[in-house]
Amino acid sequence: MPATTTTAKQDPASDHIDGTPANGPRHVAIIMDGNGRWARMRGRPRLFGHHAGARRVREIVEACPDLGVRYLTIFAFSTENWKRTQAEVSGLMSLFRRYITREARALRDEGVRVRFIGDRVRLDDKLIALMDELEAMTAGNDRVHLTIALNYGARDEVARATRRLAEDVAAGRLDPGDVDVETLPRYLDTRVLPDPDLVIRTSGEARISNFLLWQSAYAEYEFIDTLWPDFTADEFARLVHAFGGRERRFGAVKA
Ligand code: FPP
Repeated sequence: MPATTTTAKQDPASDHIDGTPANGPRHVAIIMDGNGRWARMRGRPRLFGHHAGARRVREIVEACPDLGVRYLTIFAFSTENWKRTQAEVSGLMSLFRRYITREARALRDEGVRVRFIGDRVRLDDKLIALMDELEAMTAGNDRVHLTIALNYGARDEVARATRRLAEDVAAGRLDPGDVDVETLPRYLDTRVLPDPDLVIRTSGEARISNFLLWQSAYAEYEFIDTLWPDFTADEFARLVHAFGGRERRFGAVKA
């Protein structure tokens, strides 16, 4: 099934909206970190920080078209986040349900196409139904492609992809000799997305924490001190513009 889906074009300049720099990042991925510390600094519970973080998402999504960012992928919940307290996990799940319910219409009307990546098996049925509904109601949109990583872990994604690839080999649909670097990405959750050009992590931690490991092989990284609930469209714009000044060689030598 996944092997037949199309992969977006990888030419970094190909999809840029008129008037935006062709050397800007077409796909930005963000590790939204620091909600807990932001809340603690205010003497409030961690979930207070997550709610503030959720409110930031809209501002950043809305900033994308003017910056020429066509694809935005955000890390909302990792496969490791289940290790948090039961209260925080259920609070986050309820926040995701509320976020989808409240934002769905605005996202649709603003031309945002929403996709979810990650493994749905541990998510509750109500949340899965809302995710399906939001994907379906925004499926015709093309202005910004927002991908929300929910119960996502890159190692888990690669393991699931490899399992499906092995099933295709076992069923005779795929020749092992044909498996190369073009093949595996067609089985990843991100198979219809271009690779991220820029990965941003907020809150001062310089780690990628199991996020888009395969896809970000040639991404540029920005680790910034700002806590996610304080991250503004202005700071986002500054990072996007700074990307335009970087020289990307993809392993080649400068001509
Ligand atoms: C990391 O901060 C953040 C999360 C695990 C959750 C991310 C969720 C949101 C930003 C809100 C919801 C998003 C959507 C799409 C509705 P942390 O808790 O690890 O912060 P800390 O490192 O300061 O403790």
